[in-house]
Amino acid sequence: MRGVRAGHPHPGPLPQAGEGGQPLLAVRGLAKAFGGVHAVEDVSFTLAAGEMLALIGPNGAGKTTCFNMVGGQLAPDAGSVRLGGVELVGLKPEAIWRQGVGRTFQIAETFASLTVVENVQMALLSHGGRVGGFWRPARLQYRAEAVALLESVGMAAQAERATSVLAYGDVKRVELAIALAHRPRLLLMDEPTAGMAPRERNELMALARRLAREQSIGVLFTEHSMDVVFAHADRIIVLARGELIAEGTPAAVRDDPKVREVYFGGGTTFDPATGRPSAAGPPQGASAPSGGSAAAPAASVGAPGSA
Ligand SMILES: Nc1ncnc2c1ncn2[C@@H]1O[C@H](COP(=O)(O)OP(=O)(O)OP(=O)(O)O)[C@@H](O)[C@H]1O
Ligand SMILES: [Mg+2]
Repeated sequence: MRGVRAGHPHPGPLPQAGEGGQPLLAVRGLAKAFGGVHAVEDVSFTLAAGEMLALIGPNGAGKTTCFNMVGGQLAPDAGSVRLGGVELVGLKPEAIWRQGVGRTFQIAETFASLTVVENVQMALLSHGGRVGGFWRPARLQYRAEAVALLESVGMAAQAERATSVLAYGDVKRVELAIALAHRPRLLLMDEPTAGMAPRERNELMALARRLAREQSIGVLFTEHSMDVVFAHADRIIVLARGELIAEGTPAAVRDDPKVREVYFGGGTTFDPATGRPSAAGPPQGASAPSGGSAAAPAASVGAPGSA
């Protein structure tokens, strides 16, 4: 299933299940309704340490709802979320974060005036539970660690710049460094590349993939650009109207008739070389820009012009 796939360079072998043969993350029977809307219904999947798992689906499929249930921002109506065998359902977001579930957040406006390295130092301080009180003495703390983290995301050269003056793609890399400061075992990335140019997206996800492998972090991510998904996911799970309709390698998911029908639209085929739709786009594809998908960036699936 996993591992070597033609056309996709692999940064080393993919670690399989974690301690005692358990997957890192095991989600079982997850469900959430908002009023009468079944946003997520009976969703089950697993994720191994070091694995990049893409959760895809049309707008409104329930992806963010799933993320929020794994991260503890939303309480599920039913189901179980286990990290390394520990049940997370019922824990507060802070406790889940302490268990090693990180997510990429946009750098808060208030921190934009800090330098890049100070932002990462802040994250390291907060990880150590020492945030709050006086910031000034803290400026000296964790500096070497912060610089090392910035090196890992290729941002050490810009350590002393104000975060507010960085290019957008560089801000995203700093956000990744901040997420890594908490030494997550599982990293949740909900549309991490939204608003980025196609090349920057690929660079960010290649970086996330390399770091996931090197540090054995399981990464669950959503992404509307199929180019990026097919290039950087080890495995893909597909949601449609709250239900999981397919799961497998990028190649398997790409060829799955249910996925094409429900997600991409019936007539769509894919260019195996690029993973892009190569035929006429989906007639009323939920993620097609013509369908009014505000959240789907320009290069998202269903944009026939982008092929
Ligand atoms: N807090 C909420 N209250 C009511 N309905 C909600 C709430 N959050 C999500 N929903 C509904 O649940 C469904 C799933 O939404 P969700 O945001 O999880 O989708 P998504 O797959 O992340 O979509 P997108 O690709 O646009 O980000 C949608 O029908 C949405 O309108
Ligand atoms: Mg969403």
